[in-house]
Amino acid sequence: MSALHEKIDKSRLPRHIAIIMDGNGRWAREKGEDRLFGHYHGVESVRDIVEGCAELGIEYLTLYAFSTENWDRPEYEVVGLMELLVSTIRKEVESLNKNNIRLHVIGDMSMLPDYARNELNEALEITKNNTGLNLVMALSYSGRWELLNAVKNIAHAVKQGKLTVEAIDQDTLQHYLCTSEFPDPELMIRTSGEYRISNFLLYQLAYAELYFTNVRWPDFRKENLYEAILDFQQRERRFGKTSEQLLPVNG
Ligand code: IPE
Ligand code: IPE
Ligand code: MG
Repeated sequence: MSALHEKIDKSRLPRHIAIIMDGNGRWAREKGEDRLFGHYHGVESVRDIVEGCAELGIEYLTLYAFSTENWDRPEYEVVGLMELLVSTIRKEVESLNKNNIRLHVIGDMSMLPDYARNELNEALEITKNNTGLNLVMALSYSGRWELLNAVKNIAHAVKQGKLTVEAIDQDTLQHYLCTSEFPDPELMIRTSGEYRISNFLLYQLAYAELYFTNVRWPDFRKENLYEAILDFQQRERRFGKTSEQLLPVNG
């Protein structure tokens, strides 16, 4: 066990961590390599962080792997990423099962090539009874796409008489998001020194603690995750209240 790991208060872990895995391209370029080389190495970080979260007993880990905007990248990169996705899932599904990890996917699956969608569906099926870490892959995902989709589906439900306008509340909206089964992330990490959300979980991050690090995703390892969690544990989450209100009444 590392010193950082020891310092983490295991009774105050975030239930849900979301990560924008950024910086693969720059990492590769800095080494004089092609961007895809960075993506390949990024998979090693995914493996390490998934393992780290499972060991700590984190319940949900959402990884932003591909945004709806990423479809506009050069074709060779998009194709390379899709192939990497498929080969990684194929290789990892056994170890997900062994570690009791359940895979979920959020995003516009209709955009994915058939071979990628089929591979994913198979992995979802194989891991569906696992009860440990929930690993949520955000693929062909964007917050605006998700919200638009939810609004359309709510409108359909109203039109079909399944829902009245008066009955729509925050729970209704939550129910129509692709994350309806998951609690909101409490900690959001972005690697590689960019300070933006890039269309990730726009609704769900409302009260998340944001953590930014300059470390590029292919260099991000468990120790970096522990640092982020320790930082999270030092924050006071007020949810609009005052510090005094957060003090225990009889404490
Ligand atoms: C993140 O790394 C991975 C994806 C978006 C698929 P990038 O590919 O965005 O790497 P940079 O930001 O260009 O360095
Ligand atoms: C966000 O990274 C998407 C993923 C990490 C999958 P980008 O690299 O696409 O974001 P921008 O373009 O820098 O905002
Ligand atoms: Mg990037």
